[in-house]
Amino acid sequence: MSISRLCVTVFILAALVPAALAQGPTLAATPPMGWNSWNHFAGRVNDADVRAAADALVSTGMRDAGYIYVNIDDTWEGQRDAQGVIHTNDKFPDMKALADYVHSKGLKLGIYSGPGPKTCAGYEASYGHEVQDANTYAGWGIDYLKYDLCSFTQIMRQQAPHDQQKQLELMKAAYEKMHQALLATGRPIVFSLCQYGWDDVWTWGPDVGGNLWRTTGDINDTYQRMADIGFGQLGLAKYAGPGHWNDPDMLEVGNGGMTSDEYRTHMSLWAILAAPLLAGNDLASMTPDTLAILTNKEVIAVDQDPLGKQGDRAFAVGLTEIWTRPLSGGAVAAGLFNRDQTEHPVTLHLRDVGFSGHAKLRDLWRHEDVTAANGSYTVTVPAHGVVMLKITP
Ligand code: GLA
Repeated sequence: MSISRLCVTVFILAALVPAALAQGPTLAATPPMGWNSWNHFAGRVNDADVRAAADALVSTGMRDAGYIYVNIDDTWEGQRDAQGVIHTNDKFPDMKALADYVHSKGLKLGIYSGPGPKTCAGYEASYGHEVQDANTYAGWGIDYLKYDLCSFTQIMRQQAPHDQQKQLELMKAAYEKMHQALLATGRPIVFSLCQYGWDDVWTWGPDVGGNLWRTTGDINDTYQRMADIGFGQLGLAKYAGPGHWNDPDMLEVGNGGMTSDEYRTHMSLWAILAAPLLAGNDLASMTPDTLAILTNKEVIAVDQDPLGKQGDRAFAVGLTEIWTRPLSGGAVAAGLFNRDQTEHPVTLHLRDVGFSGHAKLRDLWRHEDVTAANGSYTVTVPAHGVVMLKITP
């Protein structure tokens, strides 16, 4: 090929690439970040709370740190009208106006429903109204749907009594039905599967359109539950990637049930797990310490690393564990975790995480470079705490 034809070809390709990318799988290219109402507000959430959360995301700098989705969980639902169209209840007087408000702040609005007749809190869900509901959400300007199995289990049992395989097929079909309904709206809507990690959902979640899927039952604001979930995510890394993520549930950071060290463990582990970062606290009244944990840019950068590879446990010695995550540019994130109730020294051998020669080490919570001696780094990790490092070749 002549030089001039080569130049023309390169020019045409360069012009085409952005267009192709724009149509490509950019939805949830990195794990979704934002806020969800459930962990703090549960069934009490109303329009004013959601507006206050949106305001706080902007005023605290969380939006600019990447927290974009404002997700209303269960209990917004009202009744259906004679045509079957779903309406909000009194707590949410005008969902379209709320979406406009959230969008005006440079944020996106998420909502919640399920494939059964009722949600987990007993409100109206989407069974038999999937297309209608997807169109309603798109009309309101919704950008994210969490779809929670809840009462669909009764439909499964009724339609396929004692037949586990058939029940699984019914569950998949129910998620696929809403997936198709969302696609047909033409609006990009992140699809969040919530069925508590049953039936190895990570193996089929992407097939039914899931951008993320819960891998466990509900988190709560205790170290025990957070640690059981987070450290229990062994072996799931290969199922995650751009556009489709394992979801070990929403953050409890700032809700008051854990120490700062424990919340730093929560945030670090979720970042290594490439987990969605959905804050679950009252953003309008959080402490500076909570905000600092949620907006640690260096830890967020690990969570949002463009390579999109989830980390996993590399070593465990007693109650100390080292979890690592490959990052773009050949770097590695390492979480040195101490699950014990007393502090312990933990040693990271650089060779064990793929570094033979010189490597740069940075402590992502202290925000300072640290140095390895003789190819290893030993540090005291507080009770239930973490030292999180980024190792760069
Ligand atoms: C289930 C989900 C929770 C929350 C509640 C709402 O328990 O797992 O995350 O959405 O329902 O009722």
